[in-house]
Amino acid sequence: PFDNHIKIVEVGPRDGLQNEKRSISLPTKIELIERLAQTGLSTIEAGSFVSPKWVPQMDNSGEILQHILQHKIPSPVPISYAFLAPNIKGLGNANAILQQHPDAYTTELPTEPEKSSPSKPGVEVAVFAAATESFSKKNLNCDIATSLERFKEVILGAKDANLRVRAYISVVLGCPFEGYDVDPRKVAEIATDLLEMGADEISLGDTTGMGTAPRTKELLRCMTAAGIRNEDIAMHFHDTYGQALVNTAISLEHGIRIFDSAVGGLGGCPYSPGATGNVATENLVYFLESLGMNTGVDLDAMADIGSWITKELERPHDSSVGKAVLGA
Ligand code: HMG
Ligand code: MG
Repeated sequence: PFDNHIKIVEVGPRDGLQNEKRSISLPTKIELIERLAQTGLSTIEAGSFVSPKWVPQMDNSGEILQHILQHKIPSPVPISYAFLAPNIKGLGNANAILQQHPDAYTTELPTEPEKSSPSKPGVEVAVFAAATESFSKKNLNCDIATSLERFKEVILGAKDANLRVRAYISVVLGCPFEGYDVDPRKVAEIATDLLEMGADEISLGDTTGMGTAPRTKELLRCMTAAGIRNEDIAMHFHDTYGQALVNTAISLEHGIRIFDSAVGGLGGCPYSPGATGNVATENLVYFLESLGMNTGVDLDAMADIGSWITKELERPHDSSVGKAVLGA
């Protein structure tokens, strides 16, 4: 049967904020997360346990995790909060906080949100590989093979702690350093390795927004040919070239039902020169709902948040749908 249920992974508080030059206060980050939690989202990426020398903006992710565990953030559906962890040190920092609050979160992810109690948040970790050697070196300071060895440790450690694991692969449709020279079969190989290590979901990152419809189609064809199931794949489109929704349509047609986005179109990767924001959650929700898909997300509430946070960051409001909905 045709499955019209879509999971949106809101990455605004992480991908959206990691690249901002101006420092963003902890209360603003927490307000963003708390407002997003009320829109019907079931997954919010809330921070990153990476080196503060590399990404200073994510330095207070520990405090964000603490806050999530100590305060019952109201939400209409249970929410799983994701945090990036590139190595065992990052996982250790997250685990140290989780161990202080063993009863404050659940490791059982609801498959049917309405059937479980929304009182306890879930927590998941995300590792992030790259499809090209040059991007891996820039983003992780090591080659792909070394990064995979590290992720194996992180994934095993996360599984020991009963945490769900997302695994990103960046630059799958174009690389800032190697251009369109990205082999989709290599992407499928890395995805297979990560799934074998125990990752629960692969998020395919079009970091540069260079992805086009035919390339998206070919990438997903290669994933299927490698035996990877659609339900294990999420698509993570940046909208630098305005192709995110076109590529979303191609992915939907292929059977993908998980999409990453950022409210207000925030975002960009500090190690991808010129890359702009993720596809705006407002645009994604509007588009998906217009096709009869069900995201569970309140578009008006999301548009309000997009308008508020872009003002707060003194950034242009990048969501055309958000602006239209607000009559701005
Ligand atoms: P390195 O310099 O090779 O690491 O960086 P190291 O192991 O040699 O350690 C150097 C220092 O960093 C040491 O401190 C470590 O303790 C510390 P020192 O002794 O000099 O005082 N350190 C850490 N501190 C806190 N947390 C940690 C950690 N690890 C080491 N986890 C490393 C390697 C991976 C750490 C670094 O390259 C890094 O942090 N990279 C992260 C880059 C990043 O966050 N990029 C953005 C996210 S990815 C993205 O945006 C793409 C995505 O959206 C999908 C898409 O769009 O494609 C996900
Ligand atoms: Mg990204």
